Amino acid sequence: MLRKLLIALFGLGLVFGAAAADTVADAHAEMNGCESCHQDGSPSSDGAYENEQCVACHGGMAELEGEQHAAHADMLVCSDCHAVHDMEVGQKPTCDACHDDGRTP
Ligand code: HEC
Ligand code: HEC
Ligand code: HEC
Ligand code: HEC
Repeated sequence: MLRKLLIALFGLGLVFGAAAADTVADAHAEMNGCESCHQDGSPSSDGAYENEQCVACHGGMAELEGEQHAAHADMLVCSDCHAVHDMEVGQKPTCDACHDDGRTP
């Protein structure tokens, strides 16, 4: 319920609007705390819990928009590309960590 509300609010431009220079993780934490991704606020050792939270709010690889998602369904997890603590809001993941043919999103 809260998750659906947050996504609806963002649709109205009310959630991430003031956070342009934040990392993706900080922008999420401003909405819902570190607990929105980390169980009791503590990082897991393998990232599995965190990636389940991404899917619970955004949908899975096969459901998300964009070929870069569908192409890796059942192959990659969100954090393989979205380094949420290292990337700023609006910054797009690149492909060259794994494909060396110069492809872009
Ligand atoms: C959008 C989801 C998300 C939010 C919100 C988030 N994190 Fe993370 N965090 C991750 C993921 C995923 C990782 C695994 C490494 C990576 O991909 O950056 C991680 C890794 C970490 C690590 C490093 C763990 C390690 O073993 O290297 C720490 C520390 C951390 N988070 C703390 C926090 C704190 C403190 C907050 C709140 C201010 C927070 N995180 C909010 C998703 C999130
Ligand atoms: C293969 C790398 C890759 C993986 C894995 C991946 N993404 Fe993405 N994602 C991207 C790229 C690249 C973009 C930017 C696409 C563009 O705007 O051209 C993107 C865009 C997005 C956006 C839209 C951001 C915006 O522009 O507003 C969301 C939300 C998102 N991804 C969530 C996820 C979630 C959740 C997962 C895991 C289920 C995931 N992604 C897995 C590469 C990836
Ligand atoms: C509590 C629900 C929730 C969780 C958990 C969550 N997100 Fe989000 N996320 C949102 C909302 C709401 C937005 C803003 C609306 C949108 O872009 O879909 C957002 C925005 C994003 C964006 C767009 C950022 C930009 O640059 O504009 C990306 C990428 C993203 N999330 C990836 C992730 C990843 C990866 C994880 C897991 C590590 C994750 N999210 C976990 C709710 C969530
Ligand atoms: C974390 C590693 C990783 C990243 C980052 C990554 N990919 Fe992939 N991708 C793979 C793997 C593994 C395969 C399956 C093996 C193959 O076909 O190369 C694949 C296959 C694909 C395929 C289907 C087969 C092909 O080569 O056409 C497409 C399309 C694709 N990736 C697009 C992208 C795009 C676009 C990006 C950047 C947004 C990206 N990938 C980033 C690992 C990755």
